[in-house]
Amino acid sequence: MAADSSEVWQKGRIVEAREVARDIRRIVIEPDIPVRAAPGTHVDVAVVVNGERDVRSYSIVETDDGGTRLALSVFRTPTSRGGSVFMHALAEGDVIELTQPMQNFPLRIGAARYVILAGGIGVTAVLGMARALARLGADYRFVVAGRSRDAMAYLDELVAEHGDRIEVHIDAEGTPLDVRTLVGSIDHDTELYMCGPIRLMDAVRRAWQDFGLDLPNLRYETFGNSGWFEPEEFIVRIPRLGLETVVPEGRSMLEALEDAGADMMFDCRKGECGLCEVEVLDLSGAIDHRDVFYSERQQHESAKMCCCVSRVTTTKSAPHPGSGRAIVSIEVS
Ligand code: FES
Repeated sequence: MAADSSEVWQKGRIVEAREVARDIRRIVIEPDIPVRAAPGTHVDVAVVVNGERDVRSYSIVETDDGGTRLALSVFRTPTSRGGSVFMHALAEGDVIELTQPMQNFPLRIGAARYVILAGGIGVTAVLGMARALARLGADYRFVVAGRSRDAMAYLDELVAEHGDRIEVHIDAEGTPLDVRTLVGSIDHDTELYMCGPIRLMDAVRRAWQDFGLDLPNLRYETFGNSGWFEPEEFIVRIPRLGLETVVPEGRSMLEALEDAGADMMFDCRKGECGLCEVEVLDLSGAIDHRDVFYSERQQHESAKMCCCVSRVTTTKSAPHPGSGRAIVSIEVS
């Protein structure tokens, strides 16, 4: 059951759908109920995956002043669970169901200094923040990192817009982001807002703690879909219920358990809130923790996992004899 009761669903018509970087499509929607979206907001969109209705969250890149048009940008992941495939197939004139803008990543106005950090498609969640800070005349740095230029959405326009406030790091051009250098240059009066792959956010979180910076000044939005290892099929068991099911590469453990009839708790489905936590009873394999909910110590102990994003892998240990797959036995609350 979802804990968020604030969502208001409506219909929206696609008025623009085009590629803005490799595997990234910009989708502009005219919603039935126009609302201006604040920086950091997202919408939930009803998608159809394997013939069934499902829901995905997408950051709002921008709206016009009246909120009559809102733009999303959707990355088609190689390991898509189906949502981004659905979104990439949308064309002008199509009608979709979506919520009004929802906020769980607000920009706090009034900090002495800001760092806005985007990794890859994460730029879509923070681009509006950098824009708002520029408008306010705030003291900010906008740090944008990606693997290659052709895979970085809106890069030219952001460079033109933010001038010497933007710092661009591109792996393929030999200018990767050094997280410790970045975090080491931040003082106690600076707030950092970030969105990007879990590896980047994890590195920032650890460096933030190592440098003794105040944790409330570190704010982030996750996608909850990129892990330390490639996703692989594994088996999950709930002994108390006599339940065993396969978690395919393209589905989360939470989804597979729901499909198998288990009554699961969840909220964010992004590895942030911890509501989907399950207790690990037995493990043949290793846990690929993809959440930002647990501390490093808790992740290392692997006594619990956030089943909406985290997976089980054979990468760091041998598969279960006879099955060739990792197996995890859990208890749900
Ligand atoms: S539902 Fe929020 S961490 Fe899994």
